[in-house]
Amino acid sequence: MEDDCSTSTMSIGFIGAGKMAQAMTRGFLASGIVAKERITASAPTPQSIELIKTFGINVTTNNRLTVEKSKVVVVAVKPNVVPVVLREVSSCVTRDHLVVSIAAGVKLESIERDLPPESRVVRVMPNTPCLVQKAASVLSTGRWVKNGDGELVKKLMKSVGSCEESSEPILDAVTALSGCGPGYIFMAIDALADGGVKCGLPREMAIQLAAQTVQGAANMVLETGKHPAQLKDDVCSPGGATIEAVSRLEKAGFRGALIEAVETAYQKALFLGGGQKK
Ligand SMILES: NC(=O)c1ccc[n+]([C@@H]2O[C@H](COP(=O)([O-])OP(=O)(O)OC[C@H]3O[C@@H](n4cnc5c(N)ncnc54)[C@H](OP(=O)(O)O)[C@@H]3O)[C@@H](O)[C@H]2O)c1
Repeated sequence: MEDDCSTSTMSIGFIGAGKMAQAMTRGFLASGIVAKERITASAPTPQSIELIKTFGINVTTNNRLTVEKSKVVVVAVKPNVVPVVLREVSSCVTRDHLVVSIAAGVKLESIERDLPPESRVVRVMPNTPCLVQKAASVLSTGRWVKNGDGELVKKLMKSVGSCEESSEPILDAVTALSGCGPGYIFMAIDALADGGVKCGLPREMAIQLAAQTVQGAANMVLETGKHPAQLKDDVCSPGGATIEAVSRLEKAGFRGALIEAVETAYQKALFLGGGQKK
C-alpha cells in the first residue's frame, strides 16, 4: 500500500461542489500538490457541478463514485446535509479512505457515528482564501486516524495557506474567527472604499487602496510580531488625522461590533453542532 503521508499519488474527492470545494480545488491545483486528473467532485445536479468542472477535474452527480475514486474524501456540503451524504456513501468507505469534513459545527463523533466503525476522520476549518493560497485552517483528528493522517491533511492545507492542529472544542471558535472572518473583512473593505468614494476617489481606485491597505496591515502583524495595538499606536501621530478617525471608530463601537460578531458566529457554530441553544 502506498505511503499514507504521500501527496504525490494522492486522489482527492469532494462531496459538494460549492464555494469551498471550488476554492480548495483551485488552491490545490495552483499549488501543484495534486494533479487535476486525481481530483473528483460530486453534487446533486449537472448544474451544481458546472462551475467546478471548469477546473478540468473529474465530476459526477454520484457521491459514491467520488468515494470509490478517492483516498481523501472532503465532505464539503452544508452542515445539515452532512449526515445525509455520510449515510449515502457509508457502505463504500473503508480504512483506506481518509474522510475530511470542513462543515461548520459538525462534530467528529457524529461523523464517525455515520460511517463504518474505525473510519479515519479529520475535521478541518478552512476559509475561502484557499482560493488564493492564503487560507487560515485549523484541524482536529478523530479517534481512528492512522499515524500521518493529521500530517497529510496539514500538508494539503498548508499548500493553500497556514494550518494548525488543535483539540476539537477549539474548532467552533476558529469557525467564528477565521472561518467566517473573510466575510467581516470584505464588509470592511467595501465600507472603506465607500469612505474613499465619499471623499472623491474613483470607485476602482478606492477598492484597490482599501484591499491593499488591509493586506499590508495584516502582513505587518504577521511579519513584525508586534501587537496590533502597538502598530495602531505607531500610526497615530499626536493631534493627527488617524487618531481623529480612531476616536470616531471607538465612538461608533467598531471594536465591540467585531468582538460581538465573532461571539455571535461562535454561538451559531455551537448550535449547528447541537452543543448549545442559540
Ligand atoms: N463558505 C465559507 O466561507 C466556509 C468556510 C469554512 C467552512 N465552510 C463549510 O464548508 C461547507 C460548504 O460550504 P460552501 O460555502 O461551499 O457551501 P455551498 O457553496 O452551498 O456548497 C454546498 C455544495 O453541496 C452541494 N450539495 C447539496 N446537497 C448535496 C448532496 N446530497 N450531495 C452532494 N452535494 C450536495 C451543493 O449543490 P447544490 O448547489 O446543487 O445545492 C453545493 O455544491 C459547509 O459545511 C460550511 O460550514 C464554509
